Amino acid sequence: MVERDYVVLEDIALQGGGLIARSLGEIVRSRGVASFVLTGGGTPLALYRAMSGPRYASEVPWQRIHFFWGDERLVPPDDSGSNYRAAWESLLSVVPVPPENIHRIKGELTAAAAVADYTEQLRVWAAAHDPGAPNSWPRFDIVLLGLGEDGHTASLFPGSPVETAAPVIAVTADYQGRPAGRVTLTPPILNDARQVIFLVAGATKAEAVYNTFVNDDPVRFPARRIRVSDAPEPLWLLDEGAAERLESAGPAR
Ligand code: 6PG
Repeated sequence: MVERDYVVLEDIALQGGGLIARSLGEIVRSRGVASFVLTGGGTPLALYRAMSGPRYASEVPWQRIHFFWGDERLVPPDDSGSNYRAAWESLLSVVPVPPENIHRIKGELTAAAAVADYTEQLRVWAAAHDPGAPNSWPRFDIVLLGLGEDGHTASLFPGSPVETAAPVIAVTADYQGRPAGRVTLTPPILNDARQVIFLVAGATKAEAVYNTFVNDDPVRFPARRIRVSDAPEPLWLLDEGAAERLESAGPAR
């Protein structure tokens, strides 16, 4: 029996992009501002492009949305491995987001300096826009997360320490030849989010998705560290490939 909320989407980019675009619009209408944490990697790029396309772009109050990253590689912002660059090219350079609404992790700095800088950015933003937040960081409205074939999410990798009090840490991890030096948000800040959405596509992820759903070992399956407090359970948006093992395991609960 699989006990987590997931949805299988035929067109995960278009449908996922629409869901997030509509949610952001609702959040801004009710609270005047929205904070959206972007994930890195390749999966979200088609979704970002869908959000910037004619179908949704006019629906979203871009001027009232603030963009953050769940993790970043320690490379300059114009590097081909930069999560910021990927989001800039597929979304942020296309839609009318004010530059002051873009809060990137400065991958060009040393690990320690990038962690300190981003931690301070989060503290300042929360003080100005999320004064009711229980900690010195925002309660993000939407956090988008991916999943690696090894089960990592953001830059929380299998076997990494589960417990950390810091909202932002530096890690080193080898994955598919991507830059190893990284800065990542951690469960304490991710679990303060108002909504976490996992976006996973492709049959190569089916095993990692299934194992994450059926194993509650947060050390081996870091996505299990994401247990948002007083907010809806994380929503998993999957395409048919990524859901293959789950669907053959029987109906979700
Ligand atoms: C990163 C991402 C990472 C990503 C997964 C999946 O910096 O690489 O934040 O957590 O979401 O590795 O990546 P793909 O979408 O490319 O499979």
